[in-house]
Amino acid sequence: MLASLTMATLIIVGAGASGLAAASRLVEKGFDPDRITILEAENRIGGRIHTVPHGSSVIEMGAQWVHGHDGNVVHSLAAAAGEIRTDIHTLESTGYADNVEMAYRDGRKIKPEQLKEFKKILESIYEDSRRDLAQWEKSLGEYFEYKFGEHLDRGSFTTMNRSMALDLLDWAHRSQNIEDGSDNWMETSGSGSLEYHECAGDYTTVWKRGYSVLFDILMKNIPKTSNGLRLSLADRIQLNSPVHLIRWNSGQVQVVCSNQTYYADMVLVTCSLGVLKDRADKLFTPLLPEKKRRAIEGIGFGTVDKVFLEYRRPWWTSEWGGVNFLTDPAKATGDWDDTLMGFSTVRGQPNLLIGWISGPAARQCENDSDNEVLRKCSALLRDAVGSDFSYEEPTRIIRTMWHSNRHFCGSYSYRSNKSKDLNVWATDLAEPIHDSNGSVRLLFAGEATHDHRYSNVHAAVETGWREADRIIELTKGAQFTAKL
Ligand SMILES: *[C@@H]1O[C@H](CO)[C@@H](O)[C@H](O)[C@H]1NC(C)=O
Ligand SMILES: *[C@@H]1O[C@H](CO)[C@@H](O)[C@H](O)[C@H]1NC(C)=O
Ligand SMILES: *[C@@H]1O[C@H](CO)[C@@H](O)[C@H](O)[C@H]1NC(C)=O
Ligand SMILES: *[C@@H]1O[C@H](CO)[C@@H](O)[C@H](O)[C@H]1NC(C)=O
Ligand SMILES: *[C@@H]1O[C@H](CO)[C@@H](O)[C@H](O)[C@H]1NC(C)=O
Repeated sequence: MLASLTMATLIIVGAGASGLAAASRLVEKGFDPDRITILEAENRIGGRIHTVPHGSSVIEMGAQWVHGHDGNVVHSLAAAAGEIRTDIHTLESTGYADNVEMAYRDGRKIKPEQLKEFKKILESIYEDSRRDLAQWEKSLGEYFEYKFGEHLDRGSFTTMNRSMALDLLDWAHRSQNIEDGSDNWMETSGSGSLEYHECAGDYTTVWKRGYSVLFDILMKNIPKTSNGLRLSLADRIQLNSPVHLIRWNSGQVQVVCSNQTYYADMVLVTCSLGVLKDRADKLFTPLLPEKKRRAIEGIGFGTVDKVFLEYRRPWWTSEWGGVNFLTDPAKATGDWDDTLMGFSTVRGQPNLLIGWISGPAARQCENDSDNEVLRKCSALLRDAVGSDFSYEEPTRIIRTMWHSNRHFCGSYSYRSNKSKDLNVWATDLAEPIHDSNGSVRLLFAGEATHDHRYSNVHAAVETGWREADRIIELTKGAQFTAKL
């Protein structure tokens, strides 16, 4: 059996969490690494995990947190390797932490009792949503606005007037879009959002040495051969090799890169859903089957970006966790800076603040120059909280451009109302594709192909393992050996 296993050849498109999880699982189970080629478009491995050294620690340009621990395979791998930070128990958050204040651009602050009331009402809506959304035909946004309207009409808000409550709701909307990776909560399916299953436990767990350690762990699991040599996967990765064309219905699959054409019995596609949305019709020949194309079209894929500002020294106090920005609709500029969530402090980085932005505003922000972005962000901070401190201008900006990068075209997937209308789900994205002789030629992994944990690294890893197991099953027979 192992003999036929070692005969089939495989190309993995993408050296991110799912691609490398698949490769390491295959090699663990006896698949000859020399029969695997991993094509990576970037000049680095990692995909949407991108840990960058900074100062005496690191910053995460991509995946930031391990979301929960129960049933979270990434948490298990990291914890077993002793790589989870356990010395910090405070909840790190893009928004709701108690030491993060909420302010209008003109410096007006939301008082603690107002914030407390708002959070309580919002939480009660979240509680209700778990029960209500299954029967809710419309978008998540329409649900929240409907419930919020009920609270406004019922007089639930006693510490603020209607317009301030709505400004806070607008902020909650921006926060939800960052969590979902959606452009607008009117595009997130209400009932579809129930497909997402959380892992219980701290949602903002961090790695001691950064997320990219995951790849060391995945590769380390690869067994040694009987003569003691470590089978090498790293050697199987071709960096700087964007794929231009995959010809999948004429015998062996042909994968065309700029400098070279590769052939294999099967191709595991792990690029982001964003890339598939952008150019699947050009990438695959013949066109993918109708159902797959509809899944690619229907399932949502948004943009979430981070902006790090570096200061010569912190101008804030150690108790200050950050500020969230409220936008007064009467004073909105219509530019992307109306939509920036706010800035918060960064663990292990005393001179940095991190800001989050999503959706069309994030894409606009990506188009501005570094200097423009630095200037606008700094102005927001100075106007909202600068007068409380001796504010100083930042000296440097570091930011992500997940949408503009052709190798990603965005950040992560969500269940859109369009996917509900088209009746397409993660299983449709995950479905392998057979050639006209019935041989499986294309397989799909990646966060967007996970039924319940999409948008997460643990989904990426699980789907990589899922496809590795499928490949093992498929190659157990002599299906491909005749050709080799
Ligand atoms: C609502 O309250 C805020 C803060 O007290 C105040 O600045 C604003 O003018 C009020 N808006 C209306 C429409 O009353
Ligand atoms: C889905 O979202 C779009 C954009 O907001 C909206 O135009 C459309 O009506 C929504 N469809 C459903 C079924 O809610
Ligand atoms: C299917 O099998 C036939 C006979 O072996 C072969 O001629 C043909 O090229 C195959 N088609 C594909 C798509 O592999
Ligand atoms: C592909 O070819 C170009 C131009 O000849 C070269 O600059 C580049 O390094 C090559 N890439 C790889 C992965 O070999
Ligand atoms: C950003 O710039 C590109 C290239 O000029 C353009 O195609 C795109 O529409 C712009 N995006 C936004 C959101 O302004």
